[in-house]
Amino acid sequence: MTRIALYPGSFDPVTHGHEDLIRRSLNLAERVIVAVAVNAAKAPLFTVEERMDLLRTVVGDDSRIEVRAFEGLLARFAQEVGAGVVVRGLRAVSDFEYELQMALMNRQLNPELETVFLMPDVGLTFLSSSIVREVARYGGKVSALVHPAVERALRAKLGG
Ligand code: PNS
Repeated sequence: MTRIALYPGSFDPVTHGHEDLIRRSLNLAERVIVAVAVNAAKAPLFTVEERMDLLRTVVGDDSRIEVRAFEGLLARFAQEVGAGVVVRGLRAVSDFEYELQMALMNRQLNPELETVFLMPDVGLTFLSSSIVREVARYGGKVSALVHPAVERALRAKLGG
């Protein structure tokens, strides 16, 4: 049976940190579904279609990686797509409390679903979509943090 990992998030926008984790997820599973949350509580900078397009550009042509949107509960979406593992990144201890709560709730909702935490490359541990948005908003350089297509999209959206 093909092992499918689900890598969910807001990806607003995708960063080199996300790219790193998508690649690492392929060490655990034959297929990775990158699941873009439609109904994240926060008002996103990029529409779900824009976030998916950028993700597809960034991952390139790799039949093992699929980019999909999901609405509602992640645990339910995992069941729908036949994923047994949810992958989340842990950058620092500060991420842990929220991640633990989410992992245990997802297990409560879908006992077959395991959550695994992957550490990004140490040079990317400071990186988050929100920090990228903030730097870009004030005209700072983000070329070392995101794919050139994402940099262009940020410039188009925010100017600079
Ligand atoms: O990149 P993010 O914003 O940290 O991702 C959070 C996300 C989208 C993975 C999480 O909020 C999520 O799974 N939302 C869907 C609703 C759900 O299932 N919530 C978890 C139950 S605790």
